[in-house]
Amino acid sequence: MMIGIDLGTTFSAAAYLDPDGNPQLVSNSRGARLTPSVVMEEDDGTVVVGEDARESMVLMGDAVVSTVKDYMGTDRKFVLPSGTAYTPEQVSALILKKIVKDAEEFLGEEIRQAVVTVPAYFNDAQRQATKDAGRMAGLDVACMPNEPTAAALYYAWSSRMEKGRILVYDLGGGTFDASIVEICGKQAEVVATGGIRKLGGHFFDQLILNYAADYLLEKYGLDVYDDEYIDELQELSLKAENCKIQLSSRTSAQMVIKIGKVREKLEITRAQFEKMIAGFYGRTESTVRMVLQDAGMSWKDIDKLLLVGGSSKIPYIAERLREFSGMEPSHETNPDEAVALGAALYASGLFEKVQDVCSHSLGIVSRRGAGAEKYNSVIIPRNTALPARMSRDYYTGTNDMKKICLEITEGEDEDLDYVSILAGIEILLPPGIPRNTRVTVEMFLNQNQLLHVYARIHAEPEIYKEIEIPRSSNLDESEIAEQTTLLERIVVQ
Ligand SMILES: Nc1ncnc2c1ncn2[C@@H]1O[C@H](COP(=O)(O)OP(=O)(O)OP(=O)(O)O)[C@@H](O)[C@H]1O
Ligand SMILES: [Mg+2]
Repeated sequence: MMIGIDLGTTFSAAAYLDPDGNPQLVSNSRGARLTPSVVMEEDDGTVVVGEDARESMVLMGDAVVSTVKDYMGTDRKFVLPSGTAYTPEQVSALILKKIVKDAEEFLGEEIRQAVVTVPAYFNDAQRQATKDAGRMAGLDVACMPNEPTAAALYYAWSSRMEKGRILVYDLGGGTFDASIVEICGKQAEVVATGGIRKLGGHFFDQLILNYAADYLLEKYGLDVYDDEYIDELQELSLKAENCKIQLSSRTSAQMVIKIGKVREKLEITRAQFEKMIAGFYGRTESTVRMVLQDAGMSWKDIDKLLLVGGSSKIPYIAERLREFSGMEPSHETNPDEAVALGAALYASGLFEKVQDVCSHSLGIVSRRGAGAEKYNSVIIPRNTALPARMSRDYYTGTNDMKKICLEITEGEDEDLDYVSILAGIEILLPPGIPRNTRVTVEMFLNQNQLLHVYARIHAEPEIYKEIEIPRSSNLDESEIAEQTTLLERIVVQ
């Protein structure tokens, strides 16, 4: 059976299609539907994933890794007490292993294939890292649909929507995504998407934590960010999250602080919290406005405003969205579960067609003439339907050029300061290529938004080749093989 997995920043979940054709969540070994994306290494080398690891965060801080998804596509290492330095891919693979193991026990069958969702705004390196994590976990990741798309599929299925446009507002633990998805019978088409990389509940906790830290510093001269309070800080950040969640159902909440000699009940009101997150909310609203604009739509073209992600349960978010859109935001689906359930629908093939779009423009660094300033020349614009194959022509600047240096860009802006460089590639040229020889750079972005680049040099004879992209922020094949072997030896509980 192929399952759907929501590999979240704070929680992960798996879902499957039951014999009646209904998507259902898997219960983990603790009987819960959500598994914290937290990994802990025990003294004997056993790796514990989920609630047990989360509960140990305070006492075993240095042996615990959380919010690894924030670091996907980076070369960050997590050094655990055994001395092993885990990559974000490895930590994610351990989470996937646990999710799959629990699903196998729950469903009573072996699972080899899965659909794993990713934030719509994930870039090339983050998607590549997620795919590699799946491979390391021994999982064939058949597809990596975007989280808001999966949520829209679930909403359309559960509400029996025949035709309509859904605007998904997905505010989770670490990322924000907004997508407009058009449903037509058994087909789903994403019209436009956008997001913010580091915005979510995890950062709201930080705001409350900073508030408490400022308070303690002012009143007691106590600096909780000092190394000596490392364990207390861990505990305080869990309390900050708790306080935030309480504020979704109450107008004020207390944080009981016990640090050193300090015993204090710090009260935080909902109004105070709303003030803290207003700026973050404003950024999400701008993104939604941009997505509507990219789709050439206004609110009157939208039939449903769907809230997804645990942080969308904050009443302020729904209130502001109600004002902004003039629509009633939908709470009909459980915001924590919709993505995994939609992933299961995706895996089942119940929808005949799910067409997504590319979330970032892709191109190369070019010049508008010899000596002119460098700029970002976009080849595949953002929001192009996937899979996408597009090309652009460039011309060699001098006679007998020895090589072409292709720098692959990700981002919309012409100004290179605002885009990232995915990779730099050298294409060696045969001797005697005259100036102004046409070079066609072709980009192919597959369904999973993984990029392939080809170059055609219009010389005699013509040269056409696929270019290996050395992704500097991802692992290479030998590193993957090595880290997979290491993971095979680890028992995950
Ligand atoms: N009732 C609530 N009120 C406020 N915040 C909540 C509530 N319930 C959960 N959260 C927050 O939601 C976040 C987790 O949401 P969710 O499980 O959707 O995220 P995720 O899938 O792990 O993250 P992402 O989608 O960004 O990768 C956490 O920050 C959690 O504190
Ligand atoms: Mg999520």
